[in-house]
Amino acid sequence: MVEPILSVEKLDVSFSTFEGLAHVLSKVTFKINHKEVFALVGETGCGKTVTALSIIKLLPRNSYVQGRIIFNGRNILELKESDMVEVRGKSMAMILQDPSSSLNPMFKVGEQLCDAITSNDPNIKEPKRYALELLSKVGFKDTERVFNSYPNELSGGMQQRVAISISLTGKPTLLIADEPTTALDVLTQAQIIQLLKQVRDTYSTSVLLITHNLGLVATLCDRVGIMYFGQVVEIGPTYDLFYNTKHPYTKGLLQSLPYNKLKNQTLPTIPGDLPSPLSPPSGCRFYPRCPRSNESCSKDVPEILPITDKHYVACFNPLSGDE
Ligand SMILES: Nc1ncnc2c1ncn2[C@@H]1O[C@H](COP(=O)(O)OP(=O)(O)OP(=O)(O)O)[C@@H](O)[C@H]1O
Ligand SMILES: [Mg+2]
Repeated sequence: MVEPILSVEKLDVSFSTFEGLAHVLSKVTFKINHKEVFALVGETGCGKTVTALSIIKLLPRNSYVQGRIIFNGRNILELKESDMVEVRGKSMAMILQDPSSSLNPMFKVGEQLCDAITSNDPNIKEPKRYALELLSKVGFKDTERVFNSYPNELSGGMQQRVAISISLTGKPTLLIADEPTTALDVLTQAQIIQLLKQVRDTYSTSVLLITHNLGLVATLCDRVGIMYFGQVVEIGPTYDLFYNTKHPYTKGLLQSLPYNKLKNQTLPTIPGDLPSPLSPPSGCRFYPRCPRSNESCSKDVPEILPITDKHYVACFNPLSGDE
């Protein structure tokens, strides 16, 4: 059996805050395979970015982390910062929602790209040639002009392309993309998605795509994990998630998509509010809002277990498929 590139196992993250301990992630578990695009989807505040920051080990100091994050055979959570510096930027890279925050406005694109190239390989002979090659790989025709531009001379989409080219300098095996298209217009979003697919094919990179956008998931991703309030509640191949939904929360999420709105009908919503991470409900975190909950749901935390060999669900009372 081929080992996954990344295996997140029972990851718990809490933050100490002025109001008390916020239990943000609870037993988050998923795997990403070689050359796979895996999406993590969920409402705002459910813990997607905290999961990403745990994987790249950049959580703030007020965090407490438990569990295991196995990347290329090593537990990230046990690595020293000096080893982690090696991992970041080389075998693992991250691109952010706002591309301007990954680029330094004071330096030309070419300088930033060459810096990243030489820090990954100090012996490289012609960093500029490699930089121009990378700019061309991410779709720029006028590579010399982009190389000599300051970030603010480029559009948001172009900046995101540059950020992606910088993230590729170390030929990462895992690229984490946290809402990489949210700040962009629809056409540019499509181009960036196309580019991520190309990156996966050219560099054999696995991608962890974090998004709210289920349309994006349908076009790009091999498998999807649905998060609700710090727990991964369902994982499966993209088609199964959409057409053979097992978790009541996933069903609610799909029903609340605008394309499901029939003429003159209001959009269905999931009743109730998100609980507070300072006092999460015992048992399944979704049970207070779940139409299918029963007594055991409030007592025990459902583990995420296989329902078929590829489809996993954390629910005591999953949907049967024809509901
Ligand atoms: N440093 C911190 N201290 C305390 N709480 C935090 C900290 N960072 C994040 N949180 C809390 O963790 C929860 C998850 O946040 P996170 O940013 O991961 O959400 P998200 O799913 O990425 O949301 P969005 O879709 O809006 O980006 C939120 O309740 C947030 O307030
Ligand atoms: Mg986020």
